[in-house]
This record gives sequence, structure tokens and C-alpha cells, in this order.
Amino acid sequence: MDTTSNHADHCLIFKICARIEAQTAELYHYYSELFRENHDAAQLWHKTALEEENHLRQFELADRLYRNVDFVVAIDPERAERVCHKLGMLLSHVRQQPPDLETALSRAIEMEESLADLHMESVVRFADGSIQKIFKAMMRFDQEHVQLLKRFLTDVTQSRTDRDG
Ligand SMILES: [Fe+2]
Repeated sequence: MDTTSNHADHCLIFKICARIEAQTAELYHYYSELFRENHDAAQLWHKTALEEENHLRQFELADRLYRNVDFVVAIDPERAERVCHKLGMLLSHVRQQPPDLETALSRAIEMEESLADLHMESVVRFADGSIQKIFKAMMRFDQEHVQLLKRFLTDVTQSRTDRDG
């Protein structure tokens, strides 16, 4: 596993992915504020935003502690850049045209599913398996967050259907 030749590129991946997590957290904090009248919704967005901030910290940690150890980048950095750019556009779009709760939830679920492989545990493969394990363990805590969003969307859709008859 020789990764020494393009270390600069490799460190960039941590920065791009950190930016993606930061934007996701920003989006969820915005939703928590936007839907503040709905206590459960606001709580869920807030909790999810904090989890994204944890993901962000993992990339910061990797960039600080492990930038000089052996690893390979397991994703396409250009795709990560595109995702980062798209997220920026999404943020400004939803600020100009705030979505309703159902739309916000279903878009967030779609987004989470398409970004699942851009988390620390899958972005790089460390030669030292014990480092890989640290990040895997960190992710275990909030793996269910897409599940929570899905369950909440089902509830919201259900109560709207009940209401509309
Ligand atoms: Fe995340």
C-alpha cells in the first residue's frame, strides 16, 4: 500500500469530506430552526445535526493525527467535490424557498443514502487496521439516523393522510 507519492491529494480528501459534513450539519440546524414550531421535528433535526458535527470531527481528527500514516483513498475525490458543490447549492436553495416538512425529510433521506459512503470509515482504508477500527466504532453510535428520519417521515405522512381523510 504505497500512498506516499500524493499525500497532498490525500489530505485534501479529509478537508473536502469535512466540508460535506459541515454543510449537512448546517442544513439540519437550519431545518431545526425552520420547523421549530413542531417540537419533535425540531428535536430530530437538531440531534441529526449534532451527529453530522461528530462526523465532521472525525475528518478533522484524521487530518490532524493520521495524515502521515499509510492509507488509500477508497472513493472518487472528484465526486466528493461535486457533492460538496451540490450541497452548497442546496443550502442556498432551501434558504430561498423553504420546503415543507415532508419534502425536507424525504430529500434528506435521499441525500443521506447517496452520501453514506462518504463517511470517514469508508473514505479511506488505513494500512493499520486498528485505526480503521477506531472510526468504525465511532460510526456505530449514529448509524440509525437515516432510520429515524424515515420513521419520522412515515409518521408525518400518516398523520397528514389521516387529517386529509
Ligand atoms: Fe454525516
